[in-house]
Amino acid sequence: MQKSFIPTTMKVRILSVLAILILLAGLTLFFEKRDPLFHQRDLHHEFVLLQGHHSYGFDLVDPVQAPASIRKSVIRGYQILTDTHSYAPQYASSQLSCTHCHFSEGDTIGGKNNGFSLVGVPTAYPRFSSRDGKIITLAQRINNCFERSLNGKPLPVDSQEMNDILAYLEWISKEVSHLKNLPWLGITPLKSTHEPDSIKGKQIYQSTCTACHGADGAGGGKLPPPVGKTIPPIWGKDSFNEAAGMSKLATMAAFIYWNMPYQQASLTENQAWDVAAFVLEQPHPPNQRK
Ligand code: HEC
Ligand code: HEC
Repeated sequence: MQKSFIPTTMKVRILSVLAILILLAGLTLFFEKRDPLFHQRDLHHEFVLLQGHHSYGFDLVDPVQAPASIRKSVIRGYQILTDTHSYAPQYASSQLSCTHCHFSEGDTIGGKNNGFSLVGVPTAYPRFSSRDGKIITLAQRINNCFERSLNGKPLPVDSQEMNDILAYLEWISKEVSHLKNLPWLGITPLKSTHEPDSIKGKQIYQSTCTACHGADGAGGGKLPPPVGKTIPPIWGKDSFNEAAGMSKLATMAAFIYWNMPYQQASLTENQAWDVAAFVLEQPHPPNQRK
């Protein structure tokens, strides 16, 4: 039999070096995980950060990686997106936070199980908004979500909170700031032209959604660790209002199809239409601008 070319002592050395490297990587990860910011991150996010590289050839960046000169502001912005009610209480009284729709605080490349991405939004604004009938800035777009999706109040555009949110969005977009028409923004519409049936939708809701969002749609509580996500309300006084993007049947149906049940999107397109119709028949706060 032919002998291996590598002598045994060499093999031992290679193996010990490998063992030390693995140990170091483990320790780094362990201490990084102790950073309080990471407690709110789900494990899925680690995977999502890698997906950017795999699919589009750029790395998604975490807020903790921001350089010292902007780090505080980026992290404050991140915190507002994570827990809007606690970090921007004057502007958001409901239980909804940005991250409940913009998963991982928007730091994803969209698609299945990733919610609405916000990576690269600074390059997409100012732009014409058909809803507003005029060109709007990114700050105005953010305020649309405060007023409609969170049923809250707009932020003064020169407030610290607004600057922090913008700093955060700039930071997570840094690798794509030279690109236009980013394919992962928005949501891929459903192909099915099925006539939504809210009676079937109610049955789907009861069998697939109540466990988390509750029979009353009010959500509440948290998913068990290690995920630990808060479960958002999807109708009722604490939910998005009638003018929100999520109140559009086609948007909600596509969101559910791509994202629900949480991290296990598995409905057919027709089921997504049906359950979206049922959810939107339930009460939501009125449009504040009427
Ligand atoms: C109830 C769900 C929901 C919540 C909560 C929410 N948003 Fe949104 N947001 C949407 C939808 C839907 C869109 C439109 C996506 C599209 O273009 O299809 C959107 C779009 C945006 C955009 C523009 C994205 C683009 O591609 O042009 C920004 C910026 C944004 N949201 C920021 C925020 C911020 C900041 C918060 C928290 C204060 C927030 N959103 C909370 C649902 C939500
Ligand atoms: C395993 C628990 C779980 C199940 C089951 C589940 N969801 Fe969710 N849902 C969540 C969580 C958690 C979020 C927020 C995700 C985040 O913060 O990253 C969410 C977000 C949402 C949102 C956007 C935020 C909001 O409040 O408007 C909608 C709409 C939604 N779910 C609808 C549904 C529908 C419809 C079903 C059934 C087909 C469903 N969900 C099943 C846990 C769940």
